[in-house]
Amino acid sequence: MIARRLMSHQTLHKSLIINPTLRTSILLPRFYSTKSPFPLKPPTPTSKEPEMPKWRQWGLYMKTKEFKKKMTGYYLGGFGVVLITMFFYMRDRFHENKQLKIIQSKYFKDPKSLSEYEYLMFKTHNPQEKLRPLEMKKYKIYQMMRKEFRRKNLLDSEAIFNPTPEELDEWYGSQASRVKKLRAPVLTEDIMGKGRDSNKSNPNIVSAEDTTAFFDAKAKEYDDEIKWEERGILMGFRRSWLMRQLKGDVLEVACGTGRNIPYLRTDKIKSITFLDSSRNMVELCKEKFRAAHPKFQKVAFTVGKAEDLVDLADDNLKYDTVVEAFGLCAHEDPVLALKNMAKLLKPGGRIVLLEHGRSTWDFINNHLDFRSEKRMKTWACRWNLDIGELVDEAGLDITYEKRVHFRTTWMLVCKKPEDPLSFDEKPFWNKLWGTEVQHVKR
Ligand SMILES: C[S@@+](CC[C@H](N)C(=O)[O-])C[C@H]1O[C@@H](n2cnc3c(N)ncnc32)[C@H](O)[C@@H]1O
Repeated sequence: MIARRLMSHQTLHKSLIINPTLRTSILLPRFYSTKSPFPLKPPTPTSKEPEMPKWRQWGLYMKTKEFKKKMTGYYLGGFGVVLITMFFYMRDRFHENKQLKIIQSKYFKDPKSLSEYEYLMFKTHNPQEKLRPLEMKKYKIYQMMRKEFRRKNLLDSEAIFNPTPEELDEWYGSQASRVKKLRAPVLTEDIMGKGRDSNKSNPNIVSAEDTTAFFDAKAKEYDDEIKWEERGILMGFRRSWLMRQLKGDVLEVACGTGRNIPYLRTDKIKSITFLDSSRNMVELCKEKFRAAHPKFQKVAFTVGKAEDLVDLADDNLKYDTVVEAFGLCAHEDPVLALKNMAKLLKPGGRIVLLEHGRSTWDFINNHLDFRSEKRMKTWACRWNLDIGELVDEAGLDITYEKRVHFRTTWMLVCKKPEDPLSFDEKPFWNKLWGTEVQHVKR
């Protein structure tokens, strides 16, 4: 084909030399068009060369000057962002430090002169102390407001953040005014530990019910239905932790079918009393206990509600450990139940809880809130309660806290406020120097 084209090209050339008119007529268009009147297409390649892999193309591109120039720009940009972030972070620490010094001098003159924010800030920075759950919740809201305050007072280095609780409440409420009015928790001496149930102020938590009839009906299938859920999240390890905390005379509240019994070491305890409001659950617990520990005699099984615990117990009956697993979510009045447990503690006794409730992550809480009614219907369980707040409202101190399963499973050890911390519970420095914990006064 190419040879034939070449040949016709040669014959045409000869005829152009012979006939000059033909020559001009053919050649003329060449002055006006860039297209060749004799297109000689290059032969199309028959075999394609293999394309270079992407990583090699990138490799070659990264060696070019153009890429290196661009990267220098990115490095400088990134460095600038880090510098700006560091500046704002350090500026924040500077203001915090400055305010802490003011608070310290105020506190040493008169502890009562501190505002609520100053008290919370001082307590946060005291290595010997931990904020209570409600205090922590409120302090986080103060911190959110403080960030906005700093942004607004960008150039005013003298501005000190110290709002009143009312100002905080107003600011917090304005943050979600289109959805619903939010309220910051109230922290006053006379309210803390005196029967205030702030969980009630959360509209997503369904109201409590007496769940006795539900669990009486559920008792037989309970173990079979719950076991896969528990195995999936390795709940056995958590139950085993719970049972390792037991010592002396023990009371297990809301014992259910006795799902903790496989992890119980009877050689570590003196006696154990099982209590549950559902008779059928207690019967199954009794069977399980007898099968697992046939020789252990100091055991009692009681049908009754945790809310009536003080009336149920004899005057002199006190316990070294009161333990409860996944019971608070099913109680009609969990705060009263906790207060009753505290009343039955011996001096130095502890309440050990393994409970499920709210997380610290909003996306988890949204899910818990969304499914709360369904959960109540299928399991008679209020799974979106803030367990920390319940403990706080019952006036108990938390000496150990661990949260697992996206922070929805709470492992807590609590004590009465008047009881001193044991050696193991003290912070590291107090253990080292053998000193007592100095609480921030209010
Ligand atoms: C979710 S189950 C947990 C059972 C068991 N502790 C466990 O870990 O599997 C809740 C239990 O609390 C009991 N319960 C509910 N309300 C109670 C109350 N007010 N006092 C005592 N027990 C209660 C129920 O009968 C049920 O056995």
